Amino acid sequence: MSPSSPLPRAVTARAHANIALVKYWGKRDAARNLPAAGSLSLTLDALTTVTHVAFDPALPADTMSLDGRPAGAGELGRTSAWLDLVRARAGIATRARVDSTNHFPTASGLASSASGYAALALAATRAAGLTLTARELSILARQGSGSAARSIFGGLVRLHAGTPTDRGADARSSDDDEAYAVALPSPLTSTLRMVIAIVGGGVPKTIGSRDAMDHCAETSPFYAAWIAAVERDLPAAEAAIAAGDVAALGALVEANALAMHAAAIASRPAIIYWQPATLACLATVRALRGAGRAAWGTMDAGPHVKVLTTAADADAVAAAMRATAGVTEVMISAAGGPAVVVEDAAAC
Ligand code: DP6
Repeated sequence: MSPSSPLPRAVTARAHANIALVKYWGKRDAARNLPAAGSLSLTLDALTTVTHVAFDPALPADTMSLDGRPAGAGELGRTSAWLDLVRARAGIATRARVDSTNHFPTASGLASSASGYAALALAATRAAGLTLTARELSILARQGSGSAARSIFGGLVRLHAGTPTDRGADARSSDDDEAYAVALPSPLTSTLRMVIAIVGGGVPKTIGSRDAMDHCAETSPFYAAWIAAVERDLPAAEAAIAAGDVAALGALVEANALAMHAAAIASRPAIIYWQPATLACLATVRALRGAGRAAWGTMDAGPHVKVLTTAADADAVAAAMRATAGVTEVMISAAGGPAVVVEDAAAC
């Protein structure tokens, strides 16, 4: 970290969303947003957030727009509290204007907090005059949203929980220093594709991932078994990636997602993200596998099904998902790159 040019600066950064292949679902410290276990993801080229941050001495308070509309009080409060971390680090009190735009498919309902906080972490720190390492950015993004720590990096990414059993190679002293993401460079990355099947049709608003994972941890009889499964799945997924074994990775991806949802479904009261079309999509995925295609499904805090596949099978998988009842939109994404600065007004 090193301070750079003086305020006020205006910086625009871009980050891609990621889909977890081994899910993050549960925290060990809510205040610092520390995950209970590690996770592993693929950053996606097709889902992008662009965020502009300007620290402005004339502003009495932080302001924020999302897709051109003023952010709600909850969203603004969460962002403002997170911006305080950046201000404390930079030694400034100046308020910021944040404008964030998601370049996601229309009304997809896909979560944007991963790309959102990753783009915000890069834009806000630069605009505050800080230059952080990717690891420092990952830690800061994680404090905003756990999955965002992974969107600092492109391709396959591993988030270390920072627990005694899941520390990075060069772990340091505090929990916060140890819960960060790293890129997992692999020749597999260029062959992987994610087919995203949007399940539409009047889907009711469901509980967000933050509240849902806390409720699951507190009430699900399967939560401890879920965390134990993640601790087994992570090294197995890393071994499959190292071996370039897409089928082994895919089998783990689908099993891990089903285990997460099993734990969520067993919460009291239940958290059920699936719609009938979600199960129809999973049936299509099984049929594709039966026909020899590379296809493994995964679901997050919503009804949509993302299918891990290969470049060779992506078109056939997308066509089958498009033909599945209840699917309203399908897109194919390759791996995306890391978060980048696209404009730095102070640098012009
Ligand atoms: C199901 O990163 O949104 O997408 O840290 O509370 O902001 P917070 O949670 P968030 O949770 C993501 C949950 C998930 C799985 C994953 O991305 O690993």
